[in-house]
Amino acid sequence: MRKALRAAVAVLATAALVATAAPPASAGGKSLRDAAPRYLKIGTAVAGGGHHVDQPYPDPFPNDRKYRQVLAREFSSASPENQMKWEFIHPERHRYNFGPADAIVAFARRHGQVVRGHTLLWHSQNPAWLEEGTFTKAELRRILKEHIFTVVGRYRGKIQQWDVANEIFNENGEYRQENIFIRELGPGIVADAFRWAHQADPRAQLFLNDYGVEWPGVKVDAYHALASELLAARVPLHGFASQAHLSMRYGAPDQLAAVLQRFDDLGLHTAITELDVRMDLPVTDEKLATQAVYYRTALDACLAVDGCNSFTIWGFTDKYSWVPVFFPAEGAATVMWDDFSRKPAYHTLRDTLAAAPRRHH
Ligand code: XIL
Repeated sequence: MRKALRAAVAVLATAALVATAAPPASAGGKSLRDAAPRYLKIGTAVAGGGHHVDQPYPDPFPNDRKYRQVLAREFSSASPENQMKWEFIHPERHRYNFGPADAIVAFARRHGQVVRGHTLLWHSQNPAWLEEGTFTKAELRRILKEHIFTVVGRYRGKIQQWDVANEIFNENGEYRQENIFIRELGPGIVADAFRWAHQADPRAQLFLNDYGVEWPGVKVDAYHALASELLAARVPLHGFASQAHLSMRYGAPDQLAAVLQRFDDLGLHTAITELDVRMDLPVTDEKLATQAVYYRTALDACLAVDGCNSFTIWGFTDKYSWVPVFFPAEGAATVMWDDFSRKPAYHTLRDTLAAAPRRHH
């Protein structure tokens, strides 16, 4: 009984905070994308491939109509969750599988959405032919170059932002040796990847993307040093992104604005690319209220930084979230329940967007 009361008070407290930020009337029946200022894209991962393959449901994006309706209504940006990763789009050395990515890009165009391409240089979800092949350094370099020209070239003019390099540093701010290209070719390959991507699509904004950069630390310092170096060498780097996979075990991202500002000060765009907020199960009203605060803190960080032009959540419904599959005993990390009904976090995001200044970028 007392617990229920505490939970109710917590929910009310959040509601009160939200109410001061934006009178509910201003958000009305709007969607997230309609509530947002024009310069800021509101995105989601588009569910398919990856962990979904082992789940007891068909591939979400092509098969779930209700899912596509919500996707079209709520978002102005779409990130293929797995469909542009190497193992998915380049399953054999001489074969590409463009169908699922093409479908997302076409859907996005039909619905006035931009696309975030994800990803080109990563240590994970690479096909066996690449990871287990025996290539000379020259071959490996040519393989990466061809991949980038082929994939980025195919979607030339249709991608707002590419995560060119994903998770290239470990927790100590050292280059990840699990990354086959970095290990075999050395860290200089990162600059080449950006140059090739820029040649293949000169209009796409090219990003560094990682998790564990929501608070200051050695990893953020490593990215700051790398970004400064690349810019000094006139490498076409345009942005730095925080994935922001948050857990309620570790606290709200209350220093994220300061981190993003350091990169903004270098003249880069910034973005939040994979936000979700997982909690230990079971769900309580109190946890949902805290979750809403975390979501709002991340959004506020982006809103506070001039060049933060893209705010993406990693899926919008728990039905398809990667969290329960990857983090045992945690879940409920998205802004909607399995049936697409909205959690407090959804309303908080929408009200915060509706109250945000409409500025120009
Ligand atoms: C995750 C997907 O959501 C899963 O479907 C897949 O099985 C594994 O990858 N950082 C990233 C994303 O850059 O690509 C990851 O996506 C989550 C962590």
